[in-house]
Amino acid sequence: MRLTPISGNPGDGETPRSPVELLLDCHARIRHFVQLSLTLAAAGDDVPDAEIADAAAAIFRYFSLALPLHEADEDITLFPRICAIEPKSGLLRQAAATMVEQHRAINELVAELLPICSMLDRSPLRLSALASRLEHVTTALEQIFAAHLHLEETIVFPALAKLFTAEEKGEMLREMEERRKLPRRPTDSRSIHLIR
Ligand SMILES: [Fe+2]
Ligand SMILES: [Fe+2]
Repeated sequence: MRLTPISGNPGDGETPRSPVELLLDCHARIRHFVQLSLTLAAAGDDVPDAEIADAAAAIFRYFSLALPLHEADEDITLFPRICAIEPKSGLLRQAAATMVEQHRAINELVAELLPICSMLDRSPLRLSALASRLEHVTTALEQIFAAHLHLEETIVFPALAKLFTAEEKGEMLREMEERRKLPRRPTDSRSIHLIR
């Protein structure tokens, strides 16, 4: 069993050349951190405490700092632009509205996940007591993300690539990159010590 997190920042790899590339890069990280959380929930007694704490802290950082940026890319940069070119009854517009709506359900589950990760970072010995809660919330997240990422990857992102000009896509990419330069705070302020 490996509890090795990758970096949670899209800016840490190769520079994305398009907004779709940046968004898909985020999706790879979402899938990674959901899997890491499932692996953590299933970790046995042989896993060192430091490894449990590091994995919990990395999952906390990803879902409290990076995921909100990705959702802002879709809710603030992408959704209004789709609304501006698609009629309300259009399939793309409806898919985009569903995308925004699903973020709320995702965030409710993330709000359950964060305190568990925070507790495990501080007290990795509590894993056996918290494992079933962690497994339950992460499985729910895995299921909602499966539908959500599929919707975005099969309908919303292909439309983004097709319907906008190179100039508009450049503007969106710049907006997303600027968002990542702003100072960030975790969504759960009780656990600010985890940002290290
Ligand atoms: Fe999304
Ligand atoms: Fe997404």
